[in-house]
Amino acid sequence: MQTWLLTDREEDLHKAATLLRDGKLVGIPTETVYGLAADALNGTAVASIFVAKGRPMDNPLIVHIAQMQQLSSLVTEIPEQAKALANAFWPGPLTMIFKKADCIPQEVSAGLDTVAVRMPSHPVGRRLIELSGCPLAAPSANRSGIPSPTNARRVVEDMDGRIAAIVDGGDCAVGVESTVIDVSGERVRLLRPGAVTVEMLQSVVGDVEIDDAVLNQLAEGATAASPGMKYKHYAPSARVILVKGTPTAYAAYVNAHADDGVAALCFDGEEQELTVPYLTYGSRHDAAQQAHRLFDALRRLDEQGVRVAYTACPSPEGVGLAVYNRLLRAAGFEVVDLG
Ligand code: TXA
Ligand code: MG
Repeated sequence: MQTWLLTDREEDLHKAATLLRDGKLVGIPTETVYGLAADALNGTAVASIFVAKGRPMDNPLIVHIAQMQQLSSLVTEIPEQAKALANAFWPGPLTMIFKKADCIPQEVSAGLDTVAVRMPSHPVGRRLIELSGCPLAAPSANRSGIPSPTNARRVVEDMDGRIAAIVDGGDCAVGVESTVIDVSGERVRLLRPGAVTVEMLQSVVGDVEIDDAVLNQLAEGATAASPGMKYKHYAPSARVILVKGTPTAYAAYVNAHADDGVAALCFDGEEQELTVPYLTYGSRHDAAQQAHRLFDALRRLDEQGVRVAYTACPSPEGVGLAVYNRLLRAAGFEVVDLG
């Protein structure tokens, strides 16, 4: 299959929208990461997303909308707390899980009775939803299991020849996937941290429960509240080992493990003490910058043939919780605590 590389000019967006209406797959920019989009109400089109990504069929997809009124046809009920959260954070990097309406195909909800919905803020992503005239089901546009793409070049790497088109909307501002919360029960529950932080959610709804899977490895055989959390995720081919400690302790530990194919993934400005090759992913004190750069840095480890990446551990506060959550999974929960 020939994959068209389209710009964000209006005529190209019309082409992309036509492809989407015809049941084809298009890589689209959002403010978090690139998505692999299809008409959410076309089960056959949605099924082809799973093939292109190599995604397990039991992992449900997020439905992207451009207008608040699209929500009511997709869900059976919009709880008051969800209305308040939508008012505060939509359009933006927040996904909410509702009880699903009958129009949602099985392929989207993967057999659950709920559906995840978000309204992205990226102008190009939003314009594509408007022009296509349909809600768009879109997981991240990576091959299943590896870090999400945060620019169009990374989507080309993963999806060239597998999908109809990729729309280049530039670098993703946030860099990690949306915050996912379940609003279908009594308490709002955080399933995946993102740029809409726990503190921001609490400022609107007061009480937020944090699902165990945000910071812990799921026990063998346990049922995941969010099926995506049970797979190895965000992982480059390189073995990632997360190292907690001061900059000095970190550098000493990494240097002591110097070997062929060993590298450091460290914070900006903390590379001076290292005797091994390194990549950086932002300032220790700027979690938003870490989020913005993390996935590209993980992919660069593989490009540079790194075998083992000792990775400086981010502080899990604010947006840092999202960075830490992704790195825990990239590391398969392999953490060294230097105390
Ligand atoms: O920022 C994002 O959310 C990006 C962009 C493209 O919008 N999308 C994204 O989709 O990250 P994906 O498929 O890579 O991650 C969706 C996550 C998965 O962990 C999935 O299991 C969970 O949301 N999810 C989707 N629907 C769900 C549902 N009904 N119940 C529980 N979890 C759900
Ligand atoms: Mg994903």
